[in-house]
Amino acid sequence: MNDMSVKIGGVNIPGRTALAPLAGITDRSFRMLCRQQGASFAVTEMVSAKGLAEGSERSNQYLDFEADEFPISAQLFGSEPEVMAEGARVVAERNPDIIDINCGCPVKKIVTKNAGAALLNTPDRLGQIIVGMVRAVDIPVTLKIRSGWAQADQAVTVARIAEDSGAAAIAVHGRTREAKFAGRADWDIIAEVKNAVSIPVIGNGDVRGPEAAKEMMQKTGCDLVMVGRWAIGNPWLFKRMEVFLNTGELLPEPTDRDRLEMAVHHLKASIAFKGLRYGVLEMRRHLAAYIKGVPGATPYRRTLMTEDDPNHLMDLLGQIKAGVAA
Ligand SMILES: Cc1cc2nc3c(=O)[nH]c(=O)nc-3n(C[C@H](O)[C@H](O)[C@H](O)COP(=O)(O)O)c2cc1C
Repeated sequence: MNDMSVKIGGVNIPGRTALAPLAGITDRSFRMLCRQQGASFAVTEMVSAKGLAEGSERSNQYLDFEADEFPISAQLFGSEPEVMAEGARVVAERNPDIIDINCGCPVKKIVTKNAGAALLNTPDRLGQIIVGMVRAVDIPVTLKIRSGWAQADQAVTVARIAEDSGAAAIAVHGRTREAKFAGRADWDIIAEVKNAVSIPVIGNGDVRGPEAAKEMMQKTGCDLVMVGRWAIGNPWLFKRMEVFLNTGELLPEPTDRDRLEMAVHHLKASIAFKGLRYGVLEMRRHLAAYIKGVPGATPYRRTLMTEDDPNHLMDLLGQIKAGVAA
C-alpha cells in the first residue's frame, strides 16, 4: 500500500480521486475511461433499490460493472429500510466493492418519495437504512450527502448518525438541496464533517482541476476528492490530480487531438457496451464536452448532436481532428 491509498472498510482505494455518481453519465464506458485515466474508484449511476428488489430488468442494467473496474461503488436510492436492504442484497450478488446510499439527489421526483436529499430530513430513518444494509451485505456501505436541505446545518448530524450506524465512509457535496447546483460549493462543511467523524470523508463540489483538488484536501482535511461534472469530456483530469497530489507536478492539459481521439475511443466503447442505438444516443453529452473549445468544431456540433450513424460520427470527428494542430 503506498501512502496515497485510503481504506474504505476493508477496501483499498489506491489513490485519492474518485469519479462521482452522475445519472446518465457514469455508465460502464465512462467509468472505465476514468479508471484507466487514473480515478482511484468510480461510482455507478444511481439505481433504484425498489427496482432491484422487484427484479426490474432496467434497474439491473445499471449494475453492468465487471472485475476490470474494481474497486467500484454501486449507488442505490430509496427510502424504505427493508427495500434498501433487499436492494443491497441484489447489488451484492454482482460483487461490487462498496454500496453507496444516495442522500443528495435534489430532483423532485426522488425527494417527494422521501429518497435522495430528503433522507437528510429523516436522520432516524436514514440510520435504520444504514443498519439494515450493513446487516444485509458483507461489503462496506457508504453515503453521499449534501450539506443540508435548506441550510448547511444537517451534514454533521447525519455524518455522526451514519458513522454510529456502521457506514464506512461519507461523501459530502458542499451544497444544500435547495441550492441544487447554484453558487459555489461550501467546503467549510466538508471540514466540519471531517472533524466530527473518524470514517474517511470524501470531499465533493467544484473541484475543476489539480490545484483545486489539493486546495480542497488542505482546507478540509478530506481523505479523497470526488469529481463529477468536470470529468465529462475530461477523463485525464484524474491522472493530473493524482500526480499533482502525489508529486506537485502539473501535467499538461490534453491537446485538441487527444480530445478527438478520446471521443472516438469513448464512442466505440459506448457502442460495444450498449449497442448502436443507445451507444450513440448516450454519447451526445460526452461528445459535446470533448469538442468544446476545439478550434473549428462549432460548425459540426449540431450534426454531432443529432447523427445516429456511428461511422458518420467518426468521420466527422476525423475531419475536426484533421483541422487541428498535431
Ligand atoms: C447530470 C448529473 C447527474 C448526477 N447524478 C447523481 C447521482 O446519480 N447520484 C449522486 O449522488 N449524485 C449525482 N449528481 C451529483 C454529483 O455526483 C456531484 O455531487 C455534483 O455534480 C457536484 O460535484 P462536481 O462539482 O464535481 O460536479 C449528479 C450531478 C449531475 C450534474
